[in-house]
Amino acid sequence: MNRKTIRWVIEDPQKKNVFWPSEEMKKRAWVSDESIYEEAKKDPVAWWAKLAKEGIVWFKEWTETYRWDPPFYRWFIGGKLNISYNALDRHINTARRYKAAIIWEPEPVDEQPRTLTYYDLYREVNKFANVLKSLGVKKGDRVGIYLPMIPEVQIAMLACARIGAVHSVVFSAFSGQSLRERMVDAEAKVLITADGYYRRGRLIDLKKNADIGVEGTKIEKVVVVKRAGNEVNMVEGRDYWWHELMEDAEPYCEPEVLDSEDMHFILYTSGTTGKPKGVEHHVGGYAVQAYWTTKWDFDLHDEDLFWCTADIGWITGHTYNCYGPLMNGATILIYEGAPDYPAPDRWWQIIEKYGVTVFYTAPTAIRMLMKYGDEYVKKHDLSSLRILATVGEPINEEAWLWYFNVVGGGRCPIIDTWWQTETGATLINSLPGIGPFIPTVAGRPFPGTSFDILTEDGKSAGIGEGGYLVQKSPFAPGMLRTIYKDPERFKKQYFGVYGEKYYYTSDGAYYYDEMGNIRITGRVDDVMKVAGHRLSTAEVENAITQHPAVVECAVVAAPHDIKGEVPVAFVTLKPGYKASEELEAELKQQVVKVIGPTARPDRIVIVNDLPKTRSGKIMRRILKALIRNEPIGDVTTLMNPESVEALKEKIGYKGS
Ligand code: PRX
Repeated sequence: MNRKTIRWVIEDPQKKNVFWPSEEMKKRAWVSDESIYEEAKKDPVAWWAKLAKEGIVWFKEWTETYRWDPPFYRWFIGGKLNISYNALDRHINTARRYKAAIIWEPEPVDEQPRTLTYYDLYREVNKFANVLKSLGVKKGDRVGIYLPMIPEVQIAMLACARIGAVHSVVFSAFSGQSLRERMVDAEAKVLITADGYYRRGRLIDLKKNADIGVEGTKIEKVVVVKRAGNEVNMVEGRDYWWHELMEDAEPYCEPEVLDSEDMHFILYTSGTTGKPKGVEHHVGGYAVQAYWTTKWDFDLHDEDLFWCTADIGWITGHTYNCYGPLMNGATILIYEGAPDYPAPDRWWQIIEKYGVTVFYTAPTAIRMLMKYGDEYVKKHDLSSLRILATVGEPINEEAWLWYFNVVGGGRCPIIDTWWQTETGATLINSLPGIGPFIPTVAGRPFPGTSFDILTEDGKSAGIGEGGYLVQKSPFAPGMLRTIYKDPERFKKQYFGVYGEKYYYTSDGAYYYDEMGNIRITGRVDDVMKVAGHRLSTAEVENAITQHPAVVECAVVAAPHDIKGEVPVAFVTLKPGYKASEELEAELKQQVVKVIGPTARPDRIVIVNDLPKTRSGKIMRRILKALIRNEPIGDVTTLMNPESVEALKEKIGYKGS
């Protein structure tokens, strides 16, 4: 059948902009029967037990499916497994043995792509697992991974998983200082990095940043992948080339028999304080949720080509660029570079070239590419696309409709997946074979999970009534188990708002309709989503106050057409320093140095005084209202109400 003619979705005849799966889609989909929601609800623990048995190969079955000692929860207790076994060994004696596991597209257009079959990947992972062992890495040891989007990143992660080492991947665009902070907390023993990589045609000297990151940590050995061939400084006795270590590595490494509740990885993410928290995921529950959400949300079949554009440094990269699809035996595409390099149609050209069928990206990227214009999309044959998905921040209607109509040609469902680093895998979204697909509405909780939206006073919100999104027990198997080395922070952050029965998401939401579809309105704390990247205002403040000119700094998120939100910093200076464009540029650069380019403030506003309460606390709420041109409210109780007038003038406030 000619793929171009297939419509995977149809418009609701009653309602504008509400879409449902077509008969074709329903027929093909793994799940198309609405009744699974009810079935799962009857006994969610039994439901997950069934999914765990069907989806995952266990060396030994668990003795207890779920245990809840509020606020802590455990899944598949006593069960034994290995994720790398599930992602590799289970496929290599099947027809998937020579199927592409990873297709890698480099940023430079004149460079050759690479393809690794499942067998190739199996070989490389086994060898690298032996390399790690030879470097003294044992079960439970932490290994830092600071790599760009190259296949070695999946190889390194799976090799850690194979021997039961705990990886902590750090986004390659984070600075050396950010890397160091995370490596110190994780007490990592080994770091895996690369010489360099390409971004927008520029060579990024990653090893230089890695060297900064290693200083003052417990890292004993550094493994360096030769990616770009740039000159690097190799420290004798500490730094080793990946390819040299691999030359002599034994080809097989027995997968470690891990407990379901052994630690799998730590991923640092921003909270409301300046210190990132180490979100801790465990093996069994994560494997189950990663497997099933990948299969059902993206309706992944053997002939699909799945492209998730997220960097591996974020949770989306972990779950949908590595573990989920590989456990499903799927083919993934990874791309090293920028979406608009060397031209704004690079992504569309890649979709056409390889015939991508499932495409998963962030609203910020959609808005950016939409701005370039339809012609860049229309130049390419995108008829291979079957499913489109989004993640990371609320999507606005205009971007949703553009994605749907222009990229998907009105044929493909849009799966708007809500989840968090903490949840390990997706939790709220419509399923391709069930629907509905409604712009800006994520959908219903994944079967077997349960949420509510609570008002200030803890009551369930009615349809259309805003509230706070919470999850109820049984908590999804892939949820974080704790914050690394900080269980008190775990309790306070997630179970300190509505009590230990409710996992508090820090997101605002409302029920959209009687069916229980949920619309997410965004974070209600000091976490920003800048171009989909999670950052805390406090981290940016800490970076700026390290500059010698700065006395005080308050950062707030301002709305932005493409990036969703951007940081704006309000700063007061020490005597002897004067406001200037140079100083503003310097302060922006300071943030790049301390955190990385994703955190660069959009604007630095230098002022004489910041609005404060009588006890001296900076009123960020007022700054937020000012920058958003919203009503400011009563300022008479401030210590310095006159500061607000000065600020209004400075930023050109247009509110009332
Ligand atoms: O505010 C929500 C937003 O992203 C936050 C989690 O960020 P992070 O841990 O970086 O994980 C992002 C990738 C899973 C959430 O608290 N968010 C994520 N997905 C959506 C979303 N907001 C609205 N709609 C979504 N689909």
